[in-house]
Amino acid sequence: MVKTFVGAGLAVSVVGIVLAARCSGTAHAAEVAGTPGPSANLTGGPTFNKDVAPIVFEHCASCHRPGEVAPFSLLTYADVKKHAKEIDQVITSRQMPPWRPEHGYGDFIGERRLTDGQIDTLEGWLKSEKAEGNAADLPAAPKFPQGWQLGEPDLVLKMPEAYTVKAEGRDEFRIFVLPLNLTEDKYVEAVEYRPGNRKIVHHALLYLDTSGRAKQLDDADPLPGYGHGGGLGFMPSGGLGGWAPGVTPRRLPDGIGRLVKKGSDLVLQTHFHPSGKVETEQSTVGLYFAKKTPQKLFISTMQIGGRLDIPAGEKNYETSRSFVVPTDVKLSGVFPHAHLLCKEVQVTATLPDGKELPIIWIKDWDWDWQDEYLYQHPIDIPQGTKVFMRFRYDNSADNPRNPTTPPRRVRWGEQTQDEMALVFFQILIDRQMADLITPRGRGIARGQGAAGGGDRRQFIFQKLMEAARRNGTAPTNDSKPKEAGEGK
Ligand code: HEC
Repeated sequence: MVKTFVGAGLAVSVVGIVLAARCSGTAHAAEVAGTPGPSANLTGGPTFNKDVAPIVFEHCASCHRPGEVAPFSLLTYADVKKHAKEIDQVITSRQMPPWRPEHGYGDFIGERRLTDGQIDTLEGWLKSEKAEGNAADLPAAPKFPQGWQLGEPDLVLKMPEAYTVKAEGRDEFRIFVLPLNLTEDKYVEAVEYRPGNRKIVHHALLYLDTSGRAKQLDDADPLPGYGHGGGLGFMPSGGLGGWAPGVTPRRLPDGIGRLVKKGSDLVLQTHFHPSGKVETEQSTVGLYFAKKTPQKLFISTMQIGGRLDIPAGEKNYETSRSFVVPTDVKLSGVFPHAHLLCKEVQVTATLPDGKELPIIWIKDWDWDWQDEYLYQHPIDIPQGTKVFMRFRYDNSADNPRNPTTPPRRVRWGEQTQDEMALVFFQILIDRQMADLITPRGRGIARGQGAAGGGDRRQFIFQKLMEAARRNGTAPTNDSKPKEAGEGK
């Protein structure tokens, strides 16, 4: 969204921000203490320092500070007071802090959400005299780690050359290939992506390529990286998550890793949003390897959520699809994907005993805030579970996000103005299964979606089944580790 990035212009160092916040906070408090102003302290009403600051520092300041993604800072009494009216509106509508999945449909790590009590507290203050209160009550200004959030990575990759993004015009997707030069397979437990220029980097997705195809495409393009509409141009052999504003890097739980095969390239798909000035970007990625070989691998299985052929002007187009899970799996995360016309994504599971399990529900799909959502506790999904995926789209002129005026018929495609209906299910598998699930051949990148499914749809599940048959064991999470190298 345009306004997101227009405001994020000031590139101030984080140290600077924290100090500035401290100084202005205390200086201001001292100044106001002497002014006649609000009598809240006398009446015992809510104050900024005691009631509001702790909430705003914890839930808003990570993005609402200089150099970050939000259009203004919320670090001081003056900041918050100045934006009081808008804040009132965005917290009651739960538009802020931004978090798309519906509360209660999946218990996700890192959920950004104010409790009802916190909203009441903020409301109470916003509707009062908006007193600042005692300086002594003001909590320490929030500190944000500088540099790598998880400490020094084991491997740091940097885009070999900076890429220049034009001042104006449409958003751009650009793909950059970063050779990993690994001489052995590695297990990654955390990844941190750091954009070089937050004014223009909207979000980034990290893929792996063992085919060399991404490198070829890059070599064929004279500029750094290559463009492929909204798509990739190759079938990724894996993924390493993504980055969007506000995303905090996290380590996978002990004993779980993402496999990165030797010879893989890391492929960054970056979404750029022009800032009004010519800008350059040179991103850095840090990888943290598991210290011990993990027993479980975190892998992604892609499912197509339905066929798409959306008539021009159609306000409420729905598509859905279900599939039956052919083997026991542990579901660790979910990553729905659609483009600009999408309004709603819902995924539910019906267990063999008839129990309904919410997987994720995004009632107000926002292409700007896509994320990989990880469950607090991986969910056991037994064989025979029926998973239902539903997507809803608005292809009318009333949809402010509709990229085409007047609306046109929209079908499946990789370009931003095409649509998609995909759900990546992140499941945990035994490490020994790894060789069996490396995808080969065509895939999402070659318009597999247009065909709408069939055999490839359950590619990984099939591989798991085959492996189970070969091993004479069901590949559940309790299955005994097998020696690598068997099968195939
Ligand atoms: C993860 C980052 C993030 C967090 C956390 C966050 N915001 Fe925002 N906020 C944004 C961005 C980005 C925008 C710009 C509008 C947009 O893209 O939705 C914004 C816009 C706003 C606006 C202007 C709304 C408008 O319509 O222009 C207000 C007010 C606001 N935020 C208040 C808050 C408050 C209060 C909190 C904490 C309770 C908060 N935000 C937490 C990122 C964040």
